[in-house]
Amino acid sequence: MVQNWNPTSWRQKPISQVPDYPEQAALEAAEAQLATFPPLVFAGEARRLKSSLAKVAEGKGFLLQGGDCAEAFAEHGADTIRDFFRAFLQMAVVLTFGAQQPVVKVGRIAGQFAKPRSSGIEKQGDVELPSYRGDIINGIEFTPEARVPNPERQIMAYRQSAATLNLLRAFAMGGYANLENVHQWMLGFVKDSPQAERYRKLADRISETMDFMRAIGINAESNPSLRETDFFTSHEALLLGYEQALTRVDSTSGDWYATSGHMIWIGDRTRQPDHAHVEYCRGIKNPLGLKCGPSLSADGLLELIDILNPANEAGRLTLICRFGHDKVAEHLPRLIRAVEREGKKVVWSCDPMHGNTITLNSYKTRPFERILSEVESFFQIHRAEGTHPGGIHIEMTGKDVTECTGGARAVSGADLADRYHTHCDPRLNADQALELAFLLAERMKGGRDEKKLAVNG
Ligand code: PEP
Ligand code: CO
Repeated sequence: MVQNWNPTSWRQKPISQVPDYPEQAALEAAEAQLATFPPLVFAGEARRLKSSLAKVAEGKGFLLQGGDCAEAFAEHGADTIRDFFRAFLQMAVVLTFGAQQPVVKVGRIAGQFAKPRSSGIEKQGDVELPSYRGDIINGIEFTPEARVPNPERQIMAYRQSAATLNLLRAFAMGGYANLENVHQWMLGFVKDSPQAERYRKLADRISETMDFMRAIGINAESNPSLRETDFFTSHEALLLGYEQALTRVDSTSGDWYATSGHMIWIGDRTRQPDHAHVEYCRGIKNPLGLKCGPSLSADGLLELIDILNPANEAGRLTLICRFGHDKVAEHLPRLIRAVEREGKKVVWSCDPMHGNTITLNSYKTRPFERILSEVESFFQIHRAEGTHPGGIHIEMTGKDVTECTGGARAVSGADLADRYHTHCDPRLNADQALELAFLLAERMKGGRDEKKLAVNG
């Protein structure tokens, strides 16, 4: 048991990024109701994710984490979920081929509703209103009514998470993820995209391998790992009242788990060691993510590692680095060296999104080449330090949006207005996400070839 901790102990700590609910009684009622609802995930699943991540920490796997910046009530539907899952599976297949290692699949989904904001106020013309903080808190419309935090939204977010997770479980276990369908995942807009040919070739190779395996008696009917896949959920644990209400004791181990998702992470703005978000997260046993931005010092990181993973367990902590394409070379090596010096076991993951946001034609966007450049630097730096580039964390959708510029279809600044749908930050569309996966796969293959050369002299 964690010392001096309980699911409410965060309430004694300083906290930032909290909404100003006008009616305390209504908030308490919503939280009390949530506390009676069934858990969304089970402790055993979170433990399974932790052991998969432990392999990644040891250099024997790769973490693919991605999804919307912010899920939205208005976008809740089977198509959105299916399109995301399909694009994500395609990426995972490409990466598995490139890494020749298991790919651990973790969606930013089924709970990714609360957003930290750089300012509490949004100004349009002469009008100032409270900022939008995610659908779990208030509405995105720029009206005074929509921007009032409403606790009922927490109940809606829970229900949307449950329905989303239900469909994802069905896709993952009920046949959709069967590797024999590898060609079908191509349907949708990607099939006439510049990535289509590359993907088709890879899918052909997989189908051929499956045919061979079938011939020798290994098939999807007899082998669940060919027809099912492990898929996990994650979100930023920002709205701690909601998290507390879904914090439950696991009856087999007696440990506390967040049951709102398999993995939760701490944002770059709320990672102060003596504040509420770190306090909450240290006490639950789920795998944790920690966003690491340019302002994090090496000593600050080591202090956080000691608080969040005092037993130095592999798989417990994933460091999600988000420096920016032009800052990663300055900041990542010093953090890697400190972690290595102290022998801390972590998964190193790269979020190439949050340090690369710019404004273009009054849209928040991210140039694809900067995203790529940060990922490339991340890989190179790990190679140079002798550590494992363990994963990527991206904002993406399965839809044909125009939110990030560039990519093989060359989305331009002028195109942004066409299909800019995000409720928060700009996401890679399915095409750009797949392109990123192919480029990564090439890097990983390159890294393997280099290693082989080194071993063989
Ligand atoms: C996010 O992941 O959406 C986010 C807000 O990231 P960060 O905390 O790294 O800014
Ligand atoms: Co974001």
